[in-house]
Amino acid sequence: MIAERKILVVAHSEELSRVAAEEFVVNAETSVRKNGFFTVALSGGSTPKGLYMKLAGEPYREKIPWSKVHFFWGDERCVPPDHPDSNYRMARESLLDKVPIPEVNIYRMPAELEDHDRAASEYEQTIRAFFHLEAGEKPRFDMVLLGMGDDGHTASLFPRTSALEERDHLVSANYIEKLSAWRLTLTVPVINQAAQVLFLISGESKASVLKEVLEGDFQPHRLPSQLIRPVHGSLLFIADSLAAGKLSHW
Ligand code: 6PG
Repeated sequence: MIAERKILVVAHSEELSRVAAEEFVVNAETSVRKNGFFTVALSGGSTPKGLYMKLAGEPYREKIPWSKVHFFWGDERCVPPDHPDSNYRMARESLLDKVPIPEVNIYRMPAELEDHDRAASEYEQTIRAFFHLEAGEKPRFDMVLLGMGDDGHTASLFPRTSALEERDHLVSANYIEKLSAWRLTLTVPVINQAAQVLFLISGESKASVLKEVLEGDFQPHRLPSQLIRPVHGSLLFIADSLAAGKLSHW
């Protein structure tokens, strides 16, 4: 059963961050009430960063039960954690260093390892241990945050890359030809297992690709964001008016 897909168009990126923060708080409160904790996979990118900065301030900071939030990453650049390109560093500076989150609740991808496949499998073990997974089982994150590139990529699932095909592993090392760079990424089945997937998309540069992803033909190798279809969860696109400018309906 494909989840219901919702598209929320907001005026501008500031409003996008606010609406996303509200969603984050509601999901966190609900998950903690139900299970005693909240698991979220963070995204890199400037649009998600706007959300992190919002969460670090009031009124959101005080609403979130930080000691019960467990932070994972949806993807990471294969660089050291203090590298300017690191998604981990971005999240630390914009959010994690500003809120009372226990260090043990932060599960960083070991993306600095030279052996990228080892890094992927180590993170897979981290996820398996946290979620107490049996062989073949996939984790169900309460929330997966995603951005979308103007080429239709999300997380580090880039067009025509090997990670798009991965259906068994939880985490893939993925070489991105056009960036001449290695990345680590959660795989499609893991993201599609989430209770809630939130796409945060802003800016005119995303208008054409967002229209293709949402209204165009299904071409997942060219538009990997089309692969994201939670099987038992909700899928919410929050886009500002510039990014949504070419959509015919929402
Ligand atoms: C990354 C992100 C990536 C990002 C998109 C959108 O590691 O770069 O995970 O998928 O979310 O490229 O980024 P912007 O919001 O900055 O356009």
